[in-house]
Amino acid sequence: MSVPYTPRKKARIHFEPNEGPKKSKSTNPLQKQREQLPIAKGKDALVREIRDNDVTILLGETGSGKTTQVPQYILEAGLAGDGMIAVTQPRRVAATSLAARVAAEQSVTVGGLVGYSVRFDEACQAHTKIKYVSDGMLVRELLSDPILSRYSVVILDEAHERTLRTDFLIANLKTILAKRNQVNDSKGKTKGPLSVSNPLKIVVMSATLDAEKFSRFYNNAPILYVKGRQHPVQIFHTVVSQTNYVDSALRTFFQIHVDKPPGDVLIFLPGQEDIETLDKSIKMYAQRLPIERMQVTLCPMYASLPPSKQARIFASTPPHTRKCILATNIAETSITIPGIKYVIDTGKCKEKRYISKDNGCGFDTLLTRDITKSSAMQRAGRAGREGPGFCFRLYTEEAFKDMAISAEPEIRRCSLTQSVLQLKCLGQDLEEVEFMDPPDIVYAMSALKSLWLLGALDNSKTLTTLGRQMATFPIEPYLARIILTSKTHGCAVEVIDIVSLLSSSSKLFLDVSDQRDAITDARRKFRHPSGDHFTMLNAFRSYQEIAASESKSERKAWCRKHYLNERTFTEALKIRDQLRVICRRVDLDWRASRSDIEEPVLRCFTAGLMQQSAMLQPDGSYKQLMGQLVVKIHPASTLCDKKVPAIIFDELVYTGHAYARGVSSVPRSFLSGITPPMTNGPVTSR
Ligand code: CDP
Ligand code: MG
Repeated sequence: MSVPYTPRKKARIHFEPNEGPKKSKSTNPLQKQREQLPIAKGKDALVREIRDNDVTILLGETGSGKTTQVPQYILEAGLAGDGMIAVTQPRRVAATSLAARVAAEQSVTVGGLVGYSVRFDEACQAHTKIKYVSDGMLVRELLSDPILSRYSVVILDEAHERTLRTDFLIANLKTILAKRNQVNDSKGKTKGPLSVSNPLKIVVMSATLDAEKFSRFYNNAPILYVKGRQHPVQIFHTVVSQTNYVDSALRTFFQIHVDKPPGDVLIFLPGQEDIETLDKSIKMYAQRLPIERMQVTLCPMYASLPPSKQARIFASTPPHTRKCILATNIAETSITIPGIKYVIDTGKCKEKRYISKDNGCGFDTLLTRDITKSSAMQRAGRAGREGPGFCFRLYTEEAFKDMAISAEPEIRRCSLTQSVLQLKCLGQDLEEVEFMDPPDIVYAMSALKSLWLLGALDNSKTLTTLGRQMATFPIEPYLARIILTSKTHGCAVEVIDIVSLLSSSSKLFLDVSDQRDAITDARRKFRHPSGDHFTMLNAFRSYQEIAASESKSERKAWCRKHYLNERTFTEALKIRDQLRVICRRVDLDWRASRSDIEEPVLRCFTAGLMQQSAMLQPDGSYKQLMGQLVVKIHPASTLCDKKVPAIIFDELVYTGHAYARGVSSVPRSFLSGITPPMTNGPVTSR
C-alpha cells in the first residue's frame, strides 16, 4: 500500500536570522520576544509548507524558537481544525517547563489552552489545544486510540535524540497517516470504519543535521531550515586528560569566575549525583570569596528536578552576580537557557544501555560514558546564543577527535520489553514494523523471552490476558506483574506502596558513601530483616504518620534526620493514587491486605523479578539464576553484610563491578521452580 503523501518535491527553504530588534506593536514583553526569535521571519513560509504537506521536517539550531513557536503558529493559522496539537518531548521536565512558557506567551494559565501530560502528572482539559507530552505518554495514548483520533497535528520534537519511544511513534505515525489521510482523501469525506474529521499532519523537528534520514523515511518530505542566532564560540581543550571531571569543573569554574568578565556559566555533567556534589563544592568555596567580588548563584537542572525549582533557570541574573547552571544533557537542545557566555563541558553523559547475557536475559542500566562529537558541538553552541562565548572542554583535542560522530539510537541499545508488549497490544510484531533503524535481533528475542517469563506471552508468542493487563499500567512490565500477582496473594496495599516508591523519579534512600555508618544508625528503626523493599515500606508508613500530624517543616526535618528523600514520598503518594485507579480497571482490589504480609509480598516481587534473582555461592558472591552474572550486594543495601541464601533485586549498577541494589532476601524454594537457561522459551520467529 502506498502512502498518500501530498505529491510535492522536496524543497529547502533557508531562513535568515533576524537582524537586530524589530519594532513591535504588542505591549506584552513576551510577544516582543516571540517576534524577535529567528523562526519568526520564516513563519509564513513555514505555515504554508505545513498546510501543503502531510509531513514536514524542520531543522533548526537550538534556541531558534521551534518548540515554543511552531505549535502556536499552527494553532494561530487554524491548521489544527477541531483537533489537538501534540508536541512530544523525550524528557518530562522539558514538557512541563515548555507548557508553562507557551501558556505565558498566550497569556493563559497552564492546563487550559496549553497543557502537558507526562507520566503520573497531567495538566490539560477538554478544550486544551496545544499539549506538550512526553513521548512515552503518546505511546500510551496510542494503546487506547490506535489512530490518535484526538490529534490533528503531531509534532515529534527532539527527533535527533532517537529515543526508543520517539522511534516507536515515528514508525506508527507512518501507518496512522496512511490510514487517516487515505480515508479523508477518498472524495474528501470520511469513508469506511474510521471517522476522523481532520486529516493528520506530522512535523518532525530536530536540532542536528540528520534531517535527510527523517525525510527519506517519510517519502521525501520537505525539509525546512531555520538558522539560529549564533555568535562565535572560542573553544579550549585541556592539554592533558583529566582524571576527576567534577574536580576539574570546580577549578575551571573558579578560574572563569576570578579572571573573566561577567556572564553566566553552564556546566554539563552526566547526572544528578555529580550535579549535587559540584553544587555543594562550589557553594562552599563561593562563601569564602571576598565580599567585593561578584557573587555566585547556583541552579541545578536535571530530568527529575521538581517544577518549582525549574523556574530559577530562566530568571534573570541579579546585578553583581554570576549564575552557574549545573545541567545534564537536558540543556544541550531541549531547554535553552538565556544569558550563557561560558560553557564547561565535562565530556561525559549518562546513557541507558541494555546488558545482555548469553542466554538472552538482560536489563537496562545507566552508564556514564563519553559524549559524541555532535553533543560536544551542541554544548559549545550554548555559549554563543547572545554574544561571543567561550567553551572549556575538560578533555584533550585528541579525545574530541576520537569521539563517535553521533549517538546510537536507543532502539539499538535498550531493552525492548515494554515496546514489544505495547506492539503486541496494537496487534503488531516487532519484525513487521517498519522502523527507521531496525532493532537488534538479539534484543528483540530477549524481550520476547522476558515477556514469556512474566506470563505476558504464551508459548506461541500470543498476548495473554495477563499481558494485556500488564500493559494497562504505565510502568515497566515487571513492576506491573508484581502488582497483578498480588491478586492471588491478597496483599495489594503493601505491594502497591512499594511499587509506587520504586516508580518515583528519585531514590528514597539518600546515599552518601562517607556517611554510611551514620545513615545505618539513623535508619535502624525502619530496617527489616528481609531487606530493602520492606525497609522502604516501613519508612513510607512512618512518613505517612508524621505527615498526618506534623507541620511541613517538621516533616522535612524528619526526612533529613533519616536521610530520606521527601520528594520520593510525595511523588509516590501521587503515583499510588493512579495505580489504584488502574487496579480498579483490571478488577484488582487494591484494599486487599493481611496480617502475615511478608511471604505473600515477597512472592509477588519474585514473580516480577525472577530474571533479577541470584543465589549465594560458596565464595560469598551471588550468581544470577538466569544469566550467570556474578553480582555483589551494593554497600548501601540493608543486606550488604548479610549472607542470605537467595536474593531478588530491582536495580543493577556498575561501578567497577556489578552491584545489586534494592535487594530482598527470599527463601531458595521461591526460586526453585525457575529453570535456569532458557531451553523451552517461546517459539522463535525464524
Ligand atoms: O526549540 P528551540 O530550541 O528552537 O527553541 P525554543 O525552545 O522554542 O526557545 C525559544 C526561546 O524561548 C529561547 O530563547 C528560550 O530561551 C526561550 N524560552 C524561555 O525563555 N523559557 C522557556 N521555558 C522556554 C524557552
Ligand atoms: Mg526545542
